[in-house]
Amino acid sequence: MAVKFYCPENQVPLEMHKVRVIQKLTLLPIEERLRKLQEAGNNTFLLQNKDIFMDMLTDSGVNAMSDKQTAAMHIADDAYAGSESFNRLKKAIKEVFGIENVLPVHQGRAAENILAERFVKPGSVALMNFHFTTTKAHVTRVGGEVIELVDKKGLIPVSDDPFKGDFDLAQLEKTIKDYGADKIAYVRVEAGTNLIGGQPVSLENMCAVADICHKYGVTSILDASLLQDNIYFMKTREAQCKYMQPKEIYHLLADKMDIIYFSARKLGFARGGAIISHNADLIKSMMEFIPLYEGFLTYGGIDVRSIESMAEGLYESLDMEYLAHGPEFIAYLIKELDDYGVPVIKPAGGLGAHLNCSAFVPNMPHSQYPAGVVAAALYLIGGIRPMERGTLSEQREPDGTERYAELELVRLAVPRRVFTLSQIKYVADRVKWLWDNRQLLGGLEWVEEPAVLRFFFGRLKEIGHWQEDLVEKFRADFGDSL
Ligand code: F0G
Repeated sequence: MAVKFYCPENQVPLEMHKVRVIQKLTLLPIEERLRKLQEAGNNTFLLQNKDIFMDMLTDSGVNAMSDKQTAAMHIADDAYAGSESFNRLKKAIKEVFGIENVLPVHQGRAAENILAERFVKPGSVALMNFHFTTTKAHVTRVGGEVIELVDKKGLIPVSDDPFKGDFDLAQLEKTIKDYGADKIAYVRVEAGTNLIGGQPVSLENMCAVADICHKYGVTSILDASLLQDNIYFMKTREAQCKYMQPKEIYHLLADKMDIIYFSARKLGFARGGAIISHNADLIKSMMEFIPLYEGFLTYGGIDVRSIESMAEGLYESLDMEYLAHGPEFIAYLIKELDDYGVPVIKPAGGLGAHLNCSAFVPNMPHSQYPAGVVAAALYLIGGIRPMERGTLSEQREPDGTERYAELELVRLAVPRRVFTLSQIKYVADRVKWLWDNRQLLGGLEWVEEPAVLRFFFGRLKEIGHWQEDLVEKFRADFGDSL
């Protein structure tokens, strides 16, 4: 808590920035939202942004840029080769991570593609605390397998453990021994573990993972896409980090890990991405893939203006006042909901607030997609666009049966520096209303179910008429309010 309020009851997270450019939002009447939702097949990916009030789908590429970032875009150097913009990016990466060797890529998954191509072979395994969708897809595409080694505390929805993204170190060592080091493509540490609720990994655990990799001669890779939030949690939850500057933590990790990659759509409030390493030979071994898949070595498929905003944004990722914004707003939202009894993933993580829908609608079977139901309902009753992270986001087994998600989550992402606290309060208010009216919720069934990535493109419809019932109850409770 950087700024302490005089009256404790007034204490809230305080924005350490002001708004100088704004974008108009629309909140449609609920009857129109019902129409838009049904036209979008109850899939929040298929809604149009113009029909949305609070876009909480993701924190990727939708963080607010600073005045310095947008100003930097004006000095971009368009040169195909040897661009000054790239030199400025390299300088920023040197400052933040202490690393000289940089391969630019157009976003995080492009780095994952190259790392898979370079390290994964048919029959090899990639060990990680937890998979991310795109990471896993790239590993399996080239014939590898992903093994998840998150400590089992990470899968308990509610606990007070500060680092639920930690690796199970004993399991890591055992798995390396069981397979033999030559079968391990790499060990990947995902900071701010996305799919289990943005839960952080401790510095101690990250360093221990790197040490184990070193001992067995296995390549260690840090996915730093969500490292900003993770560093905030290290500083606020881990005793050894309390008095470290964020920069010291970035540098320490860079020294420990063989390779770091990141999506600058998250880290650095921009667009783009990079693969970096102190080891020039490792970087050299991936160099050829950049012109092949991305673009020349000094732009890597990133627009030069974005390279400039990325460089500036990386400097800002050293500033605790910026780092704190997302996690503090998320913690505020989680506390509001938790105090009211709404089931949420605890402790609050980074990236967004996560609702535990298995508890929100406990009697609804996985086959009717409880998390999809709550996501659709939040758009209907609040113009809020969350992301389903449950059974809908899974892929069916080869025999066509459903693979039920371990956790039925709805993610309310909090893009950094975008929303004000009153908007977050509005979201909490509407979620509380939905919680009190959860007995009205019914299931969803498929209208069109694509064979791959069904959560992106699939269309569903309500079972029964629970959506019309919600509209009626909303009108009864809120009168003619939007
Ligand atoms: N790694 C992590 C931890 C991520 O969260 C993401 C993206 C990526 C890699 C891939 O990066 O999108 O730039 O290609 N997460 C986004 C999300 C898509 O909504 O959670 P990308």
